[in-house]
Amino acid sequence: MALAGKKILLGVCGSIAAYKAALLIRLLVKQGADVKVIMTASAHDFITPLTLATLSKNPVLTNFSKDETGQWNNHVELGLWADVMVIAPASANTLAKMATGLCDNLLLATYLSARCPVLFAPAMDLDMWLHPATQSNLKKLSTFGNQLIEPTHGELASGLVGTGRMAEPEQIVEAIENFFKPGKLAGKKALVTAGPTYEAIDPVRFIGNHSTGKMGYALAVELVRQGADVTLVSGPTHLAAPAGVSLVKVTSADEMFQASQKHFSHSDIAIFSAAVADYRPAHKADQKIKKGDSTLNIELVKTYDIAAELGKQKKASQVTVGFALETENEKINAHSKLKSKNFDLIVLNSLNDSGAGFAHDTNKITLLTATTTQEFSLKSKTEVAADIVTAIIELIHA
Ligand SMILES: Cc1cc2nc3c(=O)[nH]c(=O)nc-3n(C[C@H](O)[C@H](O)[C@H](O)COP(=O)(O)O)c2cc1C
Repeated sequence: MALAGKKILLGVCGSIAAYKAALLIRLLVKQGADVKVIMTASAHDFITPLTLATLSKNPVLTNFSKDETGQWNNHVELGLWADVMVIAPASANTLAKMATGLCDNLLLATYLSARCPVLFAPAMDLDMWLHPATQSNLKKLSTFGNQLIEPTHGELASGLVGTGRMAEPEQIVEAIENFFKPGKLAGKKALVTAGPTYEAIDPVRFIGNHSTGKMGYALAVELVRQGADVTLVSGPTHLAAPAGVSLVKVTSADEMFQASQKHFSHSDIAIFSAAVADYRPAHKADQKIKKGDSTLNIELVKTYDIAAELGKQKKASQVTVGFALETENEKINAHSKLKSKNFDLIVLNSLNDSGAGFAHDTNKITLLTATTTQEFSLKSKTEVAADIVTAIIELIHA
């Protein structure tokens, strides 16, 4: 029994696919899992709580309190109880609320307070699935570290044919089983730097750059998925801390260097994806600089080259990965960076490729080692992160 003793919290939303929740619960219980079910109010229109309670052998919860007694259904306890929360079917409505942090029912309150990983299997009509709002919500959920169980292509309840059918219960069980298998990086410690750095000119101004941190955060999520213990040293971004990652927030290149150095020596893997300023103002003015002459000179001094400095301390057992964003002589420049910074792997993206680099949700990369070159097509940053982590796993096992 692949799921013996595993505690699974199943969230069921209002979708025609809710009937498949009954089959899913049966399969999970057969595999030895302990299953508790939370239904949204809308889900009651599609399948009865009696069916799901009978199959799960546990009472089904929907409301914050039990009507007759006023007794509280404790969403925090439910979240702490679960080894994993699975939302299947996940409606477009619930996905939107999850992405924005809305909390107007028991399922959402439990989702927000759950410390366990979350898997979700959307079900909806093809146009709802393709709508930019849904697609943008999916991207946001992936930055939270929530794992999508892809819907399949086929005939939908509306009669239309396309993508949007919830994955079959057997596929969902397989995803849950895979989730519990130890990742290929179990027991490994990883350090990831991400985002920009801000170098203060005065109390209100800084020199920064356009990095959003998306690539580094996606890498942290993928490393956690593969079982690594991840420290993410991040410059200022608008991104939420991914689940299971220990986040160290920094502002300047100097702070990023200090934080990275602290974690580097006991890391098995270090990925330097941050866009660190090369120069900082030599002096930070104590007071806001007043508008004066037509020109203002700010003396700049070099910051620490974090990857190069830590590259000097690198042990043979460590795998280090750097990024090169190039505009010309891409491969030659990336190779010389690989050497000079003592990287094992360098991720090259060219500003000549549309959809690659800063602020995009996509990236087109080439992975270079001292002896190999692997080119990839334009992909989402989540998929790119998976390709990079696969290459790291290959290097570790080489
Ligand atoms: C017959 C019928 C089928 C529906 N199927 C879906 C569906 O598959 N996916 C979806 O996102 N919404 C579907 N809806 C709309 C949801 O039920 C509706 O958005 C509801 O508010 C979802 O609530 P919940 O997210 O709290 O469960 C359907 C509605 C009806 C009437």
